[in-house]
Amino acid sequence: MRDDTDRLPRPIAIDGPAASGKSSVGEALAREFGYRFLDTGLMYRAFALAALRAGVKPDDPDACSALAAAAPLRVEATHATRVFLGDEDVTAELREPHVEDAVSGFSKVPAVREVMVARQRTIAADGLAVLAGRDIGTVVLPDAPLKLYLDADEHERAVRRQRQAGESTDERALGNITRRDEEDSKRTVAPLQAAPGAVVIDTTHMALEDVIARVFAEVRRFAAAPATPGDVVTTSGPQPRKPSRLRTARTRAAAAAKRRLAPVRSRMRLETVYRPFYWLCVHVLRAVLWVVGRWKAEGRENVPRTGALIVVSNHLNNADPPILASGVARRRIHFMAKVELFRMPFGIFPRLYGAFPVRRFESDLGAMLTAERILRRGGVIGMFPEGHRSRTGRMGPTHPGTAMIALRAGATVLPCSIVGTEQLRNPLVVLRKPKVEIRIGEPIPVPKVKRPTEQQVSELTTRITEAIAALLPPDYRPAYTGSDGPGPTSS
Ligand code: DC
Repeated sequence: MRDDTDRLPRPIAIDGPAASGKSSVGEALAREFGYRFLDTGLMYRAFALAALRAGVKPDDPDACSALAAAAPLRVEATHATRVFLGDEDVTAELREPHVEDAVSGFSKVPAVREVMVARQRTIAADGLAVLAGRDIGTVVLPDAPLKLYLDADEHERAVRRQRQAGESTDERALGNITRRDEEDSKRTVAPLQAAPGAVVIDTTHMALEDVIARVFAEVRRFAAAPATPGDVVTTSGPQPRKPSRLRTARTRAAAAAKRRLAPVRSRMRLETVYRPFYWLCVHVLRAVLWVVGRWKAEGRENVPRTGALIVVSNHLNNADPPILASGVARRRIHFMAKVELFRMPFGIFPRLYGAFPVRRFESDLGAMLTAERILRRGGVIGMFPEGHRSRTGRMGPTHPGTAMIALRAGATVLPCSIVGTEQLRNPLVVLRKPKVEIRIGEPIPVPKVKRPTEQQVSELTTRITEAIAALLPPDYRPAYTGSDGPGPTSS
């Protein structure tokens, strides 16, 4: 008898143009069903980066072919894809403009594709895998039992790309998307096109979670279909699935219920550890800050007792999340933290602390859905809208992600400021009893908007930025709204 995993389509092929949502869907499938996710675009990007570094040009096929065979390109496909050149994790760099501009040229070279396709098939053959790209259903895995083709109109995709980058939509974004689509669809080798039999989903007017729900429904439909010899699919990679006896409807319903409840059960088990750990950290840290520093938290009466809440602050030090949590103290905050902090062995701490990872240079749908799930349950998330620590101490420009999540969830925003933690980069500063101050401002109520417009997001982003800035001393305020005096120095 096949178990639930046996029934899942393997592999799944996802194709579509740039910014059509392939990676978000692939990662969501990985999280929900335990697939490994391979974003094949990252492999072409990594090759382009290796070529740029080696001074190899796309119009030199021999050099490209030699580099494709020799480049120390390593791929890690788990719930997300990471790519290494040698020991260097280059995943973040692969989204940068110099790679973005070069990749289409290199991905046209047949010798490069040949090497990449062979490696993609090997990865697809290893367990449950979802592969996303341009030619997965047509060339890499033409026999995949489930093929998806995600589409969206050019303007919508340009808007999404710009939102990921935290900028407003402009002609350059639209031009880039159009140029890359054209190059990818018109090239002679493996052009972008929907594979025969692919489920085509036009996502232009769909919210991300609706696209994901639609894809999950396709996967579940496949898994629920009785196994017959006709189901057997041979692919160029994975082993064919063996046909087996049908399970009774009752067994299947029980298994489905168990599968649905499994993540809830495991979360409940972990909660018994996470919750006490969080409050222990809050109180111990408050005590430590009292002893080693001059610690002050003002405005705690402004913290709403109940309801969905997003705590936002300027960002100076990696220690800001626990320090801010100790200042707010009345509600348990789930911080959105950069994925790099979750690497083992130290990654256990943010996990225990109830934080959840976000990839900062790309649209991270998983992080967004996690944030929305916490807020829907009336929980609290913590975000630093600048996206990274300020090097100068002065608050930098903010990203629209916070406003977007707040509007979609209808969650109140609680502006806070943090001052003094920039000094903690030097541990010896404790000898001077550093002053660390948290100020908590008036909550900003936010109405729920299912599909916020760019203007709504931009207005709320400005409001949040100004509310944080108003709590900061002049030296820490953003240069573009406050005085131009020198920023605070960190010792
Ligand atoms: O999906 P992406 O934007 O990261 O893809 C980067 C480039 O790689 C893009 O120009 C298309 C190309 N690509 C390809 O030719 N075949 C694939 N299977 C995946 C990506």
